[in-house]
Amino acid sequence: MAKILVTGGTGYIGSHTTVELQKAGHEVVIIDNLSNSNIHVLDGIERISGVRPEFVEGDVTDLATLRKLFETHPGIDGIINFAASKAVGESVEQPLKYYRNNLVSLLNLLDLMPEYGVKGIVFSSSCTVYGEPDVNPIDETAPIKPATSPYGNTKQISEEIITDTIHAGAPFKSILLRYFNPVGAHPSAEIGELPNGVPNNLIPYLTQTAAGIRKQLTVFGDDYNTPDGSCIRDFIDVVDLAKAHVIAMGRMLDNPESPKLEVFNLGTGRGLSVLELIASFERSTGVKVPYVIGQRREGDIEKIWADPAKANNVLGWKAEASIDDTMRNAWRWQQKLAGKV
Ligand code: NAD
Ligand code: UFG
Repeated sequence: MAKILVTGGTGYIGSHTTVELQKAGHEVVIIDNLSNSNIHVLDGIERISGVRPEFVEGDVTDLATLRKLFETHPGIDGIINFAASKAVGESVEQPLKYYRNNLVSLLNLLDLMPEYGVKGIVFSSSCTVYGEPDVNPIDETAPIKPATSPYGNTKQISEEIITDTIHAGAPFKSILLRYFNPVGAHPSAEIGELPNGVPNNLIPYLTQTAAGIRKQLTVFGDDYNTPDGSCIRDFIDVVDLAKAHVIAMGRMLDNPESPKLEVFNLGTGRGLSVLELIASFERSTGVKVPYVIGQRREGDIEKIWADPAKANNVLGWKAEASIDDTMRNAWRWQQKLAGKV
C-alpha cells in the first residue's frame, strides 16, 4: 500500500482514478481548487469505495499551500498530476491562464518532490502532442508536431520539463501518459464528467442532447478523408484509463528495474468516427440523438487512434470496455445528473 497525492482528484479522470487507487489498497490525498469540479464528487467516491479520501482544497500553483500539504500529510510516495486547465478554445483566448496554471503547478510539484522524498510522478499528457498523425495507429516513437493551441503546448512543454528534470538526475521517476479521448462514467453512476456550461466535447454534448437539454448535436464536418466523412478518434473508457494509472504508479514505486522516465499511449487501438459513436450510443441506449451536419471545427484533427502495444506489453494493461457499455454508462450518468436514476 502506498500513499498517493492526486492533484485534480475531484475532476473527471482524477475521481475515477482515486476509486481505482483505493480499490488497489492505496491511501489517497486529493488536492483540488474546485475550479472545474464539485466538492460533492467526494461523496460519490465514498459511496463507491467506502472510503472518503483526504481532501485539501487548494491551488497547486501556490507553493506555500503545497508545502503545507506535504508537512501535514507526511509520507506521500507518489503523485498523479491531473490538475490543469483543459479547454482548448479557452486556451487560445487566455494563453497566460493556461501557461501559468498548467506549468507553475508542475514546477511546484517537481520542486518539492525531492525534499519530501516522493518517488514518482504520473503526468496526464495527451495525444494532442502528435498533432495530425502521418500514420495511424500512432505509437510513442511518432514525432511530436507543433502544438495547435496553448493548451496543447502546455502538454508538450510539461513533457519536456519532466524529461529535462529526470535527465538532470532528479531522485524520482516519472511516467508520461498520453490519453486519447476519455469518455464514459463509472458504472455505478456515482461519478462521471461534470462539464461547466455548454460542453465543448462530443460525449457530454451528445448525452445532454439525448436528455433534451440541448436541441441538437452538430457533427463538425462530414467531408473529411475518412470512410463516412466524419473525424475519427480513439474513445477510451474512463475506468480503463483510471486503471492504467494504478499500474503505472505501482511500476514506479515497486519495480527497481523500471526506467526513470517512460511514456505510454493510453487508447484502445480502435478508431471510431463521430457518426459511428452516435450510432453506438443510439444502439446501446435505445435513445435517439437529434443531430445535424455542420461546418468543420477549426483546429480539429482528421483522424487519430492509438497503437497501445507498449502499454499492453510493458504495463500489462489493456482497454477492456466495449464502446456500447461505455455509452450506456455515459447515459446512466447523464440520467443520474437529471435525477432520473
Ligand atoms: P477536469 O477539469 O475534470 O479535472 C481537472 C481538475 O483539476 C479539476 O477538478 C480542477 O478543479 C482541478 N484544478 C485545475 N487547476 C488546478 C490547480 N491549479 N490547483 C488545484 N486543482 C486544480 O479534467 P480531466 O478531464 O479530468 O483531465 C485531467 C487531466 O488530464 C488534465 O491534465 C487534462 O489536461 C488531461 N487530459 C484530459 C483529456 C480529456 O479529454 N478529458 C485528454 C487528455 C489529457
Ligand atoms: N465533435 C462534434 N460535435 C461536437 C463536439 C465534438 O462533431 O459538438 C467532434 C469533433 O469535431 C471531433 C470529435 O467530435 O472530431 C471529438 O471532439 P472532442 O472535442 O470531444 O475531443 P477532441 O478530440 O477535439 O479533443 C480531446 C480533448 C483535448 C485533448 C484531445 C486529445 O478535448 O483536451 O482530446 O487528447 F487534447
